[in-house]
Amino acid sequence: MTKSYETLLVERRGRVAIVTINRPEKRNALNIQTRQEGAAVLEELREDEAVRVVIFTGAGDKAFIAGADIAEFAGRTAITQREVMTGRSLFTAIDTFPKPVIAMINGYCLGGGNELAMACDLRIASDTASFGQPEINLGIIPGGGGTQRLTHLVGESKAMELILTGDIIDAQTAYRIGLVNMVVPAADLEAKTMEIANRIADKSPIALRMAKEAVKTASRSTLDEGLRREIDLFALCFSSADKDEGVKAFLEKRKAEFKGK
Ligand code: COA
Repeated sequence: MTKSYETLLVERRGRVAIVTINRPEKRNALNIQTRQEGAAVLEELREDEAVRVVIFTGAGDKAFIAGADIAEFAGRTAITQREVMTGRSLFTAIDTFPKPVIAMINGYCLGGGNELAMACDLRIASDTASFGQPEINLGIIPGGGGTQRLTHLVGESKAMELILTGDIIDAQTAYRIGLVNMVVPAADLEAKTMEIANRIADKSPIALRMAKEAVKTASRSTLDEGLRREIDLFALCFSSADKDEGVKAFLEKRKAEFKGK
């Protein structure tokens, strides 16, 4: 059973949990409370074996997340800001979450919103979505991983362009540069995202966890370290009942039923 949150809606559909940032009147901007509640909901969903995949989205039809709540920046000291960002971080919680997390991007995906989307494992965008790191226009820079994750995803040249100009790009451009996995018509966004989430939710949770960790190692280590880590994680899968079930089901020409054991 899900606790109630003031800034989030949490819905479970089968094995998929949908977390909706629910501040549409502020274009779902991330204030401190939203970040804390986001981290708390992930702790809850992490422990829930019935949940295999998590989707993040924004309420309303305008915004996914229009960034950090700029109103909170006014008058804030450097020390307070540092504490806010180095405490229990929502972006790190998503990045290290042991189950796949999908960003269902239904509109403005700016600043901290784009940083949250980039911390997710997959990004599925509506054709009405737009993307950018406009922090430079406020006299600051991205501070939630934007300079690092954007560079890993789209390369230094495009990351530098987006971060230095603060320009906003449309969904097709975001797809072309590799920022999002796919773009779908707005009317199909939820159905397409659920279809992908359900397909992933049918896989072995153990293999998904190992796969996520292995892929993330690629951008955080040397090739040799990454290849060694991959072998360890691959071998670890051999200790699971899911691996026995997956192999047996293939040989018996039936669909595997993974239990996460
Ligand atoms: N932080 C705080 N409030 C925000 C916000 C943010 N990041 N983004 C939007 N809002 C608020 C607006 O201040 C406005 O509040 P109000 O009704 O109390 O005046 C409300 O959300 C609606 O915003 P508005 O600008 O009228 O909506 P819009 O649909 O015309 O434009 C945006 C949407 C996202 C293009 C525009 O709001 C914007 O540029 N936001 C800031 C984006 C940004 O710089 N993000 C990076 C932050 S580091």
